[in-house]
Amino acid sequence: MGTYYKKPRIRDSAVRRFLFVVSITLAGVFLLCFLVGMNSSSSELMQENEVEIDSISEVNFNITGLVGSVKLPKHNYLSKMLEGKNQLAPRNMDLYPSLAKDRIVIVLYVHNRPQYLKLVVDSLSRVSGINETLLIVSHDGYFDAMNKIVEGIRFCQVKQVFAPFSPHIFPDGFPGVSPNDCKEKDDPVEKNCEGSTDQYGNHRSPKIVSLKHHWWWMMNTVWDGLKETIGHSGDVLFIEEDHFIFPNAYQNLKILTELKPTKCPDCYAVNLAPSNVKSRGEGWNSLIAERMGNIGYTFNRTVWRKIHRKAKEFCFFDDYNWDITMWSTVYPSFGGSVYSMRGPRASAVHFGKCGLHQGQGENAACVDNGVVNIDTEEIDKVANIKPEWGVHVFSNQEGYQAGFRGWGGWGDKRDHQLCLDFAKMYHVRNKAS
Ligand SMILES: *[C@@H]1O[C@H](CO)[C@@H](O)[C@H](O)[C@H]1NC(C)=O
Ligand SMILES: *[C@@H]1O[C@H](CO)[C@@H](O)[C@H](O)[C@H]1NC(C)=O
Ligand SMILES: *[C@@H]1O[C@H](CO)[C@@H](O)[C@H](O)[C@H]1NC(C)=O
Repeated sequence: MGTYYKKPRIRDSAVRRFLFVVSITLAGVFLLCFLVGMNSSSSELMQENEVEIDSISEVNFNITGLVGSVKLPKHNYLSKMLEGKNQLAPRNMDLYPSLAKDRIVIVLYVHNRPQYLKLVVDSLSRVSGINETLLIVSHDGYFDAMNKIVEGIRFCQVKQVFAPFSPHIFPDGFPGVSPNDCKEKDDPVEKNCEGSTDQYGNHRSPKIVSLKHHWWWMMNTVWDGLKETIGHSGDVLFIEEDHFIFPNAYQNLKILTELKPTKCPDCYAVNLAPSNVKSRGEGWNSLIAERMGNIGYTFNRTVWRKIHRKAKEFCFFDDYNWDITMWSTVYPSFGGSVYSMRGPRASAVHFGKCGLHQGQGENAACVDNGVVNIDTEEIDKVANIKPEWGVHVFSNQEGYQAGFRGWGGWGDKRDHQLCLDFAKMYHVRNKAS
C-alpha cells in the first residue's frame, strides 16, 4: 500500500549553498508577511473588510475594553443608556439561583408588537423545564409596552439586551434616517444626497434594514459579547415575537440535541418546527432531517463560528431578509446540504393576524384582539420524541438556493460596513489596552 518518496541526494555543494540562500530568503519573506499580517489584523481591518477573528480564545473572553477600534456609529443618549442596560445581570436570579449544566439557552428576538409578545411569553410560561435555563430577550428598539411584558416574567432567569445601533434608536442620523439621505430612486449626484442603491436602483429604508441588522447584532452579541453566555458550550434556541411555543418544546429540544450526534451527525441544528412554516409536521413515527428552518432553530458555538466566518457573505448579500441571506449565501458556502433535525410534530408555530395570510387556509395559526386560535393538545404538553425512531431525510427540497441574487433592499455601503462592524466589535482589541 505504501508509496515512498525518495529524496534525491544533492551532491553538488554549490547547489546546496544556493538552496541555503534561497531558503533563508524565503524564511525572511515569510516572517515579513507574518508580521505585516499581524499588524493589519489589529489595525487595518476596516479598510480590508477582513473578518479574521477566530483565533481568539472563546471562553473567559474579557469583553471589557473591546469595541473601541471598530468605527461603530457615534452613540447618542439613548444608545449609550441601552449599552449600559445590556451589562445588567439577569432578573430572577433570586428565584432561580443556579442554571442547569446542560441547559439550552433561549433567545427571543423582538421588535414592537406587544400583543404578540404577550402571547409568546404566556406560551413560554407553560414550557416545562424552562425554569432551569436563561431566557435572553433581544430588543430592536426601546418600547415601554415591550419592556413591561418582559419585566413581568417570573418563570425563569431573564436578561434583556437592546441593539444600541438600531435604526429605531437614531431618529436623525445613520443608522436611522439622516436628513441628507437619498430616498427611493434618487440620483445622489443630481440631488446631492447620500446613499448607494441596491441592485434594483432603490435607496435604503432604515425600517426595513433594521431586521437584518438586529439579527446579526443579536447573533454576535449572544455568542461573543455577553458574560452570561460567553462560556456556554451547549446549544442556543432562537425564537421570535410571533412564535407560539408548546409546553413540550424544551424537553423535546433536549432529546433532539442529545440524539443528533448519532441520528444525524451531518445535521447542523435541530428545529422546533418544519421548515415549511405552514406545516405542523407529518405525525409519523420518525425523526425528520430537512433544510434548515427559521422557527426555533437551535445550534451550538461550533456552528456559530462557521456562520461568523462568513460575515462578508452575510453582510454584502443584497437582500434585507436575514433568513434568505443565510439560505442563499451562508449555508451554500459551507459546502454540502445544511440539514436540521426535528420531530414529526411541531413544538412551535408561527402566527400572524387573522385574515391576513392568504392561501394558508383556516388552520393557519392567528391572533385576533389578543386571542390566539392555537389549541394545545395533550400530545403537545409532554415530550413526544422517541429515541428508537429512525430518521427520514427530505433531500432536494425547494426553496432559496445558492445563485439567487436577493430581493434587494440591502445595497447601501453604510449598511454593509455596520454589519461587518458588528461581526468585529467583540473581537478587536482597543489599541490602548
Ligand atoms: C478586562 O479588561 C479590562 C480592560 O482591558 C481590565 O481593566 C480588566 O481588569 C479585565 N478584567 C479581567 C477579569 O481580566
Ligand atoms: C422547575 O419546575 C419544576 C416543576 O415544573 C420543579 O419540580 C423544579 O423544582 C423547578 N426547578 C427550579 C430550579 O426551580
Ligand atoms: C456542535 O454541533 C455540530 C453540528 O452538529 C457538531 O459537529 C459539533 O460536534 C458540536 N459541538 C459541540 C462542542 O458539541
